Formats: sequence, C-alpha cells, structure tokens
Amino acid sequence: MQVSKRINDIPMSGIRKMFDLAGPDSINLGLGEPDLAPPKEAIEGMNRASSAGRNKYGPTAGIPELRQAVADRFRKYGDISGSNIMITPSGSSALLEITMSVVNPGDDVLVPSPGFVIYGPHAQLAGGTFTEYKLTDGDFQPDIDDIQSKITSKTKMLVVTNPSNPTGGVLNEQSYKALCDIAEDKDITILADEVYESFIYEGKHHSFMNQLDKAIVASGFSKMMAVTGWRMGFLCASEEMMEYLIKMQYHVCASPNMPAMYGILDALPNIDPYLENARKVYKARRDLICKRINDIPGMSIQPPKGAFYAFPSYDLDIKSQELAGELVKAGLICTPGSAFGKYGEGHLRFSYAADETKIDKGMDILESTMKKLR
Ligand SMILES: Cc1ncc(COP(=O)(O)O)c(C=O)c1O
Repeated sequence: MQVSKRINDIPMSGIRKMFDLAGPDSINLGLGEPDLAPPKEAIEGMNRASSAGRNKYGPTAGIPELRQAVADRFRKYGDISGSNIMITPSGSSALLEITMSVVNPGDDVLVPSPGFVIYGPHAQLAGGTFTEYKLTDGDFQPDIDDIQSKITSKTKMLVVTNPSNPTGGVLNEQSYKALCDIAEDKDITILADEVYESFIYEGKHHSFMNQLDKAIVASGFSKMMAVTGWRMGFLCASEEMMEYLIKMQYHVCASPNMPAMYGILDALPNIDPYLENARKVYKARRDLICKRINDIPGMSIQPPKGAFYAFPSYDLDIKSQELAGELVKAGLICTPGSAFGKYGEGHLRFSYAADETKIDKGMDILESTMKKLR
C-alpha cells in the first residue's frame, strides 16, 4: 500500500528514540509526564459519569458546563466566556486543529527552536512549511530580531510556547509585547501553547487569552491534573474563529471523551490547593536538579522559571545525540537537545517530574559520565 507523501516526509519524534536504547533499570528523566497522582475528584467524577451512563457522543465543542468552568478559571487573563472555549481530545489535537484551520498549502509557520516537537510537522500536515526561530541563551526568550528577519510574505502563523518545553523558559513582558506587535503589524496569527500555565515558579504568566483578535491559545489538562492518558485538552479562540474550529473538530473526532469531561469538571473549580502542592514539589526538584547540574564541571543552567524541564548546556565538543547515547549506556535516559530543533544542539533535556531520589541518582550518572568524557 502506498502512504501519503505528507506523512512519509515527517520523521518520528526524537524524544521516544532514547527509550528503545534503554535498559530496564535505567533512571528515566526523559518523559514529559507528571508523576503525581491526579486529583481524586477527577477520578471519582469520571467513574461516576461512566457508571451513570454518560458513555455516548457529546456536543462537538464539549459539554457546556465544562466550557463555562474553563472560562471562569481563565477569565483572570482575558474577557472570555464559555463560547470562547472548546474542549479537545488533548492539547496535541488542539494544536493540530488550530494549525489545520489557519494554515493554507504554501504558508509558512514560525516555530520556536528549541521547541516542542509537533509544531513543524503539524504545519507540514496542513500543506505548509515551517521555519525555526531562535530562543535567546540562558533565559530562552523568543529572539525578536531573528523572528523579524525570518518573516516573509508566506508567514501565516507564529507559535509561542509559554512556559516552554523543553527549556522551562517563561515569557517576560517585553517579549510578550514584542510578539503582540509583530502579530499586529504583519498580520500573523499567534498560536500560543500554554499547556504548562499551572507551573510557574517565579514571575507572572502573560497569557494570549486577552489577544483573541490575533491569537488562539491551546492548552490542556494532561499536565495540570496529571492525566496524560485521559487525552483531555482545550483551546481558547474568538467566537468568530470558534465556528471554524468546531467544524474542524467535528470532522476529526465528533466530540471529546464524555466521562473524562465530567471528571475534569468535578475537579477544576477547586484545583488550586492541588496545584499549589504540585508547584511546591516541582520547585524543590527544580532547585535540586539545577544545583546538581551547576556543580558538574562543564555543565550549566539558569534555573528555569516554569514547566518541569531542565535544559542545561554542556561544553564538550560532541553532539547531544551522542552524549545522550553515552548517558543511556550508563543508565540515565534524557533527551538530546537536537530533538527539539537545530538551535537545541549543545543541550540536554531532563524532566524533573520524577522523585528526588531518582533525580539524585540520575545526576550521579551525569556527573560520572561528564567526568569520563572530559
Ligand atoms: C509544549 C507542549 N504542548 C503540548 C503538549 C501536548 O500535551 P497533551 O496532548 O497531553 O495535552 C505537550 C506534551 O508534552 C507539550 O509539552
């Protein structure tokens, strides 16, 4: 059978490659997945909904009560209502549905580099191309000059991840304003990926939910409630754009997972204590991993302000793929920076959504491997 060129041309994500090489007792700091338990209200709510027979198709945009509850929670960022929210079967599908609804064949999409791995392939699936823009060293802000130099008449959309995977960078006010100006001046749509919004340890979240004339926001519950397997996300868009996004989602999946929506609905209004605890746990781990990394000769990191990733640089003259390969052989799984785009080279990504014992053991392996290689 012949496959489409569209899918044949897209390489498999480099994140999963490392797992194939790993031994059974390896320390895994490769996965971007919370290790905390989900809120019990969510699990009980989902079970209850399923037992009560809520197992049929639902409204395409999600149940109105949950759309409203999401709008209520995020109204602190912008003047939004339930009709600006669509529940999606994951943040990933929100990203794809947005890209498919904005990008025409031949259009170009600017994507952050280092950046999450699916934006470029999504642009290609929509028949477009993508161009990587740089993040600045150290605090990983979008490099505005680099963005300006890469805008062409074909540039249709610009993706911004805030907070960022893989860098943990959080957009500062200056970067946020500069991106808004670019979108305005050049008539470019911003796709803001805000799935890590709940995990900011210092500073403030600058959401694009108050810029819906030029931005669409993709977000989700996977990381917020540690339910990566439920596949529950949402997007936030102007009412005008929403009409098209709902049409897109109808053709993708008809409607999102019904019992899971009820579970999320039961947990969301009172999620703050759960998230406060999660932030406390992750922040302590972030401090631990950054200290351990900065104590290793040849490695350095500025403590990331958000998400749960550390993205240090190293001074060895080898590719990140090779260094990650050495670490896997020594029993530590991480992700080479190059998996996140050409400007990710010279870095490794460690997820600190793992307990402190694992982080310590992983850092022992990193330390001894770096010593050996230097
Ligand atoms: C930046 C970013 N966006 C989106 C996603 C997708 O999350 P999900 O599809 O689980 O909602 C991830 C997952 O790792 C991510 O890191």
